Amino acid sequence: MHKLHDPQLLKKASYINGCWHSSANELAVNNPATGELVAKVSNAGIAETELAVKAAKNAFKAWSTKSANERSTLLRNWFDLLMENQDDLGRILTLEQGKPLAEAKGEIAYGAAFIEWFAEEGKRVYGDTIPAPSGDKRIVVIKQPIGVVAAITPWNFPNAMIARKAAAALAAGCTFVVRPDTKTPLSALAMAELAERAGIPAGVFNVVVGDNAHAIGKVLTEHKDIAKFTFTGSTAVGKSLISQCASTVKKVSMELGGNAPFIVFDDADIDAAVAGALVSKYRNAGQTCVCTNRILVQEDVLVEFTEKFVAAVKGLSVGNGLEEGVTIGPMITVQAVNKVKKLIDDSISQGAQLVLGEDKNGDNAHLGENFLAPTILTGVTNDMPIAHNEIFGPVSPIMSFKEEEDAIALANDTDFGLAAYFYSRDIGRVWRVAEALEYGMVGINEALISNAAAPFGGMKQSGNGREGSKYGLDDYLEIKYLCMGGLSK
Ligand code: SIN
Repeated sequence: MHKLHDPQLLKKASYINGCWHSSANELAVNNPATGELVAKVSNAGIAETELAVKAAKNAFKAWSTKSANERSTLLRNWFDLLMENQDDLGRILTLEQGKPLAEAKGEIAYGAAFIEWFAEEGKRVYGDTIPAPSGDKRIVVIKQPIGVVAAITPWNFPNAMIARKAAAALAAGCTFVVRPDTKTPLSALAMAELAERAGIPAGVFNVVVGDNAHAIGKVLTEHKDIAKFTFTGSTAVGKSLISQCASTVKKVSMELGGNAPFIVFDDADIDAAVAGALVSKYRNAGQTCVCTNRILVQEDVLVEFTEKFVAAVKGLSVGNGLEEGVTIGPMITVQAVNKVKKLIDDSISQGAQLVLGEDKNGDNAHLGENFLAPTILTGVTNDMPIAHNEIFGPVSPIMSFKEEEDAIALANDTDFGLAAYFYSRDIGRVWRVAEALEYGMVGINEALISNAAAPFGGMKQSGNGREGSKYGLDDYLEIKYLCMGGLSK
């Protein structure tokens, strides 16, 4: 940490109503690459969470009645500060999360882009007029900020998942309370420090760090002063949070798990498909909900694709994300590694072949227990658990298919519906497959689909609501219908 240009960015307490709340009770943040302690952070609980909700409620009136331009200026300041401090924020992120430094800096720019985007988009919260059914009436629709927003965010994108939610909420005129994952709270706290420097008023953006996830989650989902709850994380946890929100009929938006198919058709540009699969699968060591989960390859090109893909994956370099040239960092915990190893072992015991992985290209044990070698399995079939579980690790299961219809059926044979990818140069096939895939986001000859201008979100059990884009504000707005009557003389 001594290498930070600005050591003041390393905050160790919750940020509530513009103040840092220290306590003697602390939680440890460890570096997943080395196991070393990065920082000790004050461990907040129910009382601090309730204080944050109160602060957000009190701040709502003044924030929501600022003009969109005033809010835009403050958000733009925040964006500028995040980008000015990209190096430090990237370093903090790598230290607590593990992803390679270049990728971590990329995440800072990715997160900041949402703040820049919504600083502008907040000026375009347009209403509507509707022709009334009788001459003495007029119908006008206005949009208003929903109120206090609560968020629970994950460890895999400790900056961007907060930025994507907070930017839209604040631009819409809402105030915000977030509980970041306690494995990666430092990025969230650094964001709070910069929000304060940007001039965002006390109470508008609050960060509560506490390891009693259940108790804090209960306040954030059940508190009557919170109008909207948003979560990024697993489908299982999302379902239980949705049911907790039912008691106060909160608006919810959920960005949950995925099981992304990556389909390579026989007319695809195979080199482009290999490059796409590499980045989509191994970004963040496979720990994103839009990571490729299953690679489906048409029989005629199976050998060519697999050979080229194995060669490309061999070029990845596993290690501590702070080291030069490393392209895959550690996984977040040893439990996460073990869960993925079990999926690999189960697949092998059911007939899949390990063509690249721990046993084939050398053990990563010297790196530490959180590391897992990039793995490729061939001969995977749809009845194996790996085809139906979100892997969340650096493993590529390759399956084959005969016809276009088979690929679509395989791709849609899941409860998830977040992201899908396919490679084809046949324009008819491109439209047929794009329309048939039951996914909220489809990459066509493209594997990096996330950006601030596009609506991020899923279908089926991958969640609801959209983040980013012109649609991203809707989740933070109420539609109000004004009926003006008595207009006739
Ligand atoms: C996620 O894994 O939840 C987000 C991935 C992305 O924004 O691309």
